[in-house]
Amino acid sequence: MVVGMASGKIILMGEHAVVYGQPAIAMPFSAVGIRATVTQEGQALSVSCAFYQGLVHEMPKIWESLKHAIRFSLYRIGAPTDPAIHIDIDSTIPAERGMGSSAAVAVAIARALFAFYQKELTDQELWDIVQSSEKIAHGNPSGVDAATTSGKQPVFFIKDKTIQPLEINVDAYLVVGDSGKTGHTLEAVKDVALLCQRNQEAKRWIEELGKLTRSAKELLSSGQTNILGQIMNQDHSLLQKLTVSDDILDQMVIVAREHGALGAKLTGGGRGGCMIALAENQRQAQDIAQALEDAGARQTWIQYLGE
Ligand code: MEV
Repeated sequence: MVVGMASGKIILMGEHAVVYGQPAIAMPFSAVGIRATVTQEGQALSVSCAFYQGLVHEMPKIWESLKHAIRFSLYRIGAPTDPAIHIDIDSTIPAERGMGSSAAVAVAIARALFAFYQKELTDQELWDIVQSSEKIAHGNPSGVDAATTSGKQPVFFIKDKTIQPLEINVDAYLVVGDSGKTGHTLEAVKDVALLCQRNQEAKRWIEELGKLTRSAKELLSSGQTNILGQIMNQDHSLLQKLTVSDDILDQMVIVAREHGALGAKLTGGGRGGCMIALAENQRQAQDIAQALEDAGARQTWIQYLGE
């Protein structure tokens, strides 16, 4: 029996703009994660997870990205295409909520299968497997989810260029609120692309998002949480203009601000999924989390942002 692990992820700043070459700031979110366990079992390649139990070759089309992560890992390993093994996937990452579940499942599967066949998994190989699986799930992935669900540290990320460990010197807390509504990253990414083709202003919003992310990097390093909160609010307004927020996320952002958040915004692909709020201290974070739950959030988490 061999195990592969991956964590969830949170994008602090830069979602969507990162697809267009602007920077993003993202971090592994270890409060949630995925464990893939491989065992020698049965007659053919099979999988069990919350939404499917059975043979991999009979998996419905809707789980194509997961199937691809398994098949592509086996191919890269040089293993048989239909080995008599079973993969059990156990996840605490809410699916399709902007927490990187599709990338994380590919990371955990690749790690577990390479370990099972006692093959070294290089960073490049892991990247190739996760990104090709993400292309099926998200169409045009920037790679920020692949970088953070497989990593250990917050990163400053620029597509095809930079994955830089990020210095964070703030003494503050992040509250993560799950709206309970499934996000639609694939559609949201496509719609932003269409908007940019039709509307010159949308390109300017993307550039502004990039500027905000660069400012956030400086503020995280110098520990200026008040201004960081304002920058997060501005970021959310631009994401609204890009049409990737929705009424529930907007309402949660308002509730967080009304309960003392220094700033709040959606996180991830949007149109459902999760939001984040910045809190000055733990007490305030707990108040915000409670207020979000009272307002209907499915679940909340609190993460210390300092080292
Ligand atoms: C999804 O977690 C983040 C997006 O920016 C898409 C991507 O970067 O691939 C919306």
